[in-house]
Amino acid sequence: MNILEIIEKKKNKLALSTEEIHFFVNGFTAGEIPDYQISSLLMAIVLNGMDDREIYDLTDAMLHSGDVMDLSELGGNVVDKHSTGGVGDSTTLALAPILACCGVYVAKMSGRGLDFTGGTIDKLESIPGMDIALSEEEFRKVVKEVGCCVIGQTGNLVPADKKLYALRDVTGTVDCIPLICSSVMSKKLASGSDIILLDVKFGTGAFMKTKEDALLLAEKMVNIGNRAGKSVGALITDMEQPLSDHIGNALEIVNIIDVLKGKKSRLYNELKEVAVKLLSLTDKYDEQSATVAFEQAIESGRALDKLAEMVKAQHGDERYIYHPELFKLGEMLPVYAQADGFVTAMNTAEIGRACTALGGGRMKKEDPIDYSVGIKMDVMLGSEVKKGDVLCYIYHNGKNVEHAVKQLQDAIIIGSERPQPHKIAYAFVDKDGVHLY
Ligand code: URA
Repeated sequence: MNILEIIEKKKNKLALSTEEIHFFVNGFTAGEIPDYQISSLLMAIVLNGMDDREIYDLTDAMLHSGDVMDLSELGGNVVDKHSTGGVGDSTTLALAPILACCGVYVAKMSGRGLDFTGGTIDKLESIPGMDIALSEEEFRKVVKEVGCCVIGQTGNLVPADKKLYALRDVTGTVDCIPLICSSVMSKKLASGSDIILLDVKFGTGAFMKTKEDALLLAEKMVNIGNRAGKSVGALITDMEQPLSDHIGNALEIVNIIDVLKGKKSRLYNELKEVAVKLLSLTDKYDEQSATVAFEQAIESGRALDKLAEMVKAQHGDERYIYHPELFKLGEMLPVYAQADGFVTAMNTAEIGRACTALGGGRMKKEDPIDYSVGIKMDVMLGSEVKKGDVLCYIYHNGKNVEHAVKQLQDAIIIGSERPQPHKIAYAFVDKDGVHLY
């Protein structure tokens, strides 16, 4: 077996055998197959797809490329949530402490930014001292003692995804159902959780552009999870505009601190939707009691304290959680509307790319991140604006500023008619099928 034959086979739209899939995943993980050959194969997969059996084999090969965590000592109710990626999506970092306050364990392994989407791990690292590379032993200890812990894919958990993810980010091979499905599910199955909620996004700021594609991806992921004996559900959620009005690493942390203090916003509504669904998948809650538990965790201030506790346990400076003014942010620059009308649409991926261009994300694998840059939206879909009104503020340190201003003015589309309001969630998928809202 050799990698050239495998690339040729996929180029010619043929299905790869189980052995071929394990061969390229293991060879790449071991450093025996170079990036350029895997890049070529990834592009062939993007263009020619994979059938369900190939996707299952790819997930399985990636899952077994490293260790599989066993958290059975926590006695069940270890939950996990995974977003397929969006712009201004800091749900995980607010959700983990909320869920821990509701009596379930959150053992979460998150990723870095991918293409135009932000990464939970990059956001966490904007808190000075924060250690996202805890040893497995420390990770277990924090989960057990605090109730929640969020780290990167450290150690030997799904090393295949760590390498593939970084390569996909810089080779235009992200938006592909088989690759997203295997990337997400290999990590979820390796991380030892019993109950998994997938947040599958669609729209201009998601890898899936349509509801139909998001549903297809959700069904494939739920099936793989069920086949592996886990309780898995998937929410189909809207990403036609940034999930929150703060985009950028430190800015998003500042925003979740406000949400955990009770600020009502689109992010709050999404958090509630995700938390209630996830808690209802456990044997502790139904939807009604989950809603009450969610609200109490925030209103009592316990969720904010829990975030500070988690940050401290991960060696971060918890003073930043109680004093967000300590975060260093870039210089502020307003971006103005160039016409009267309503915000009728947003090219949300371009808003994410503007943040990357300012230094908030990576163009190359090894690029450093500037945590202090980002965008604060002053308008959302449906806002009425007059020429010269502020659309958003850029936080910058002088990098690509003019480019970002133009990108944002083009991405926020102003028309004459107010668009229909967008729901947060459109459907839920579980072992019984699709439930439309
Ligand atoms: N999130 C992941 O973990 N992997 C992907 O491929 C896309 C989103």
